[in-house]
Amino acid sequence: MNSVSNLGLTCQGLCKTYQTKNGLISAIKDVSFCVKEHEFICIVGPSGCGKTTLLKLIAGLLHPTSGQIFFSQDPQDGIPRSALVFQEHGLFPWMTVLDNVAFGLEMRVKDKKERRDLSRPLIEKMGLLAFTNNYPHELSMGMRQRVGIARAFVSKAQILLMDEPLGSLDAQTKLILQEELLKIWKEDQKCVVYITHDIEEAIFLGDRLLVMTARPGHIREEIVIPFDRPRDLSIKELTEFAKMKGHIWRILEEEVRKSCG
Ligand SMILES: Nc1ncnc2c1ncn2[C@@H]1O[C@H](COP(=O)(O)OP(=O)(O)OP(=O)(O)O)[C@@H](O)[C@H]1O
Ligand SMILES: [Mg+2]
Repeated sequence: MNSVSNLGLTCQGLCKTYQTKNGLISAIKDVSFCVKEHEFICIVGPSGCGKTTLLKLIAGLLHPTSGQIFFSQDPQDGIPRSALVFQEHGLFPWMTVLDNVAFGLEMRVKDKKERRDLSRPLIEKMGLLAFTNNYPHELSMGMRQRVGIARAFVSKAQILLMDEPLGSLDAQTKLILQEELLKIWKEDQKCVVYITHDIEEAIFLGDRLLVMTARPGHIREEIVIPFDRPRDLSIKELTEFAKMKGHIWRILEEEVRKSCG
């Protein structure tokens, strides 16, 4: 298999307007930021401010109304530029855990057995070995999310785009998966764009955090997360962590009020 390099990206003046039967909806307006090749960026913002829209634009699933996205390199042969992990419903119900994960290699590896062999270590890392041959409906929500994350990582996509991947989980499972996610990310430190509603999660995971305004969303503030890596959950007890959380919460509260009023 060819070695895979990392990739960074720059969004410049991105705007997206949807045409609906009730007229035009401006989802995001003039969004500009960059993500370095090894950076883990988290994005928080009020509901409906255009976060998923932004991720779909980066994934190439939507075209911007105006503005541009630049990638730091051309795509490599057979390697997906990006992989998307959704909040839920990201798995194929008719496929086993093994084949759902192996699907992440569909573009890169022709041989089915090789795809399966390459997927097993990821399944093991995500603690799902005993469920390799089970189907999604036989798994808990947390386990399904692990399968989605394993599929994104096995794909070796150059950029990982995650849309509230742990959003539907209970607090304990979420904490465990946040730590697991950081462990698995540490191995090749890909560029990650991670959307979450959870401020603590964003501070715990990210190198930098972007706070979006109410719709039409744009970047209101950029915050560098100062905590060293590797991180564990004890950083949540630091005064600096609490201060940062309070600051972000106040911005978001203001924006949520705007979007309600
Ligand atoms: N396909 C679409 N057609 C028309 N309008 C859309 C479409 N997708 C999203 N929108 C609108 O664009 C705005 C932004 O939606 P988006 O899903 O990007 O927000 P979000 O920040 O991801 O919200 P949430 O936090 O609730 O997931 C919303 O007002 C939504 O109604
Ligand atoms: Mg969304």
